[in-house]
Amino acid sequence: MLVRWEEATDKAAVYALNESAFGTSAEANLVDILRREAQPIVSLVAEDNKIVVGHIMFTAVSLSGHPGIKIMGLAPLAVAPLHQNTGIGTTLVHAGLQQCKASGYGAAVVLGHPGYYPRFGFKPSARFGIGCEYEVSEEKFMVMELQEGYLHGKTGIIKYHSAFTGL
Ligand SMILES: CC(C)(COP(=O)(O)OP(=O)(O)OC[C@H]1O[C@@H](n2cnc3c(N)ncnc32)[C@H](O)[C@@H]1OP(=O)(O)O)[C@@H](O)C(=O)NCCC(=O)NCCS
Repeated sequence: MLVRWEEATDKAAVYALNESAFGTSAEANLVDILRREAQPIVSLVAEDNKIVVGHIMFTAVSLSGHPGIKIMGLAPLAVAPLHQNTGIGTTLVHAGLQQCKASGYGAAVVLGHPGYYPRFGFKPSARFGIGCEYEVSEEKFMVMELQEGYLHGKTGIIKYHSAFTGL
């Protein structure tokens, strides 16, 4: 399996992948909008025999009261149904976080399953005094420092790109 940056020619495959993984076109449409409207993004694909079987996207988020802070939001993450539970999601998350870190981001957030993301180092955001603009159960919104101590003393509310509203 190969993990690489998404290219322009992957667009249709990434759309179909998100649609089949989530069972709806909402996330697939979101990816299309973010690709057009959100910069910077980190968008990686996992390829197996030249077929796109996984996709991960990160877009920059803001933290209230801290303009200029560099935090990425992980969403969405999708693995083709027939390839799930074979480690592809794990590989994509590690590769994506590494890319965010290399691009100078100090932390990442994710709104997701509390049984999945802690293995990468994500912790409940409340521990950092950080909340989410959306009303979500506390353990589902998680934060991870990519640079040690980056969030020290930085509390507030995380806001995603407006395309996430209504998802
Ligand atoms: C969630 C998802 C990205 C995980 O990727 P994956 O490649 O299947 O998972 P991996 O092989 O890396 O890891 C397997 C682990 O993930 C867990 N897992 C799989 N799907 C999960 C889900 N929907 N929620 C929580 N945990 C999940 C498995 O139970 C397994 O846990 P274990 O290691 O403790 O046994 C993938 O199943 C998927 O695309 N699901 C549909 C879309 C989705 O829900 N995306 C996540 C949005 S936050």
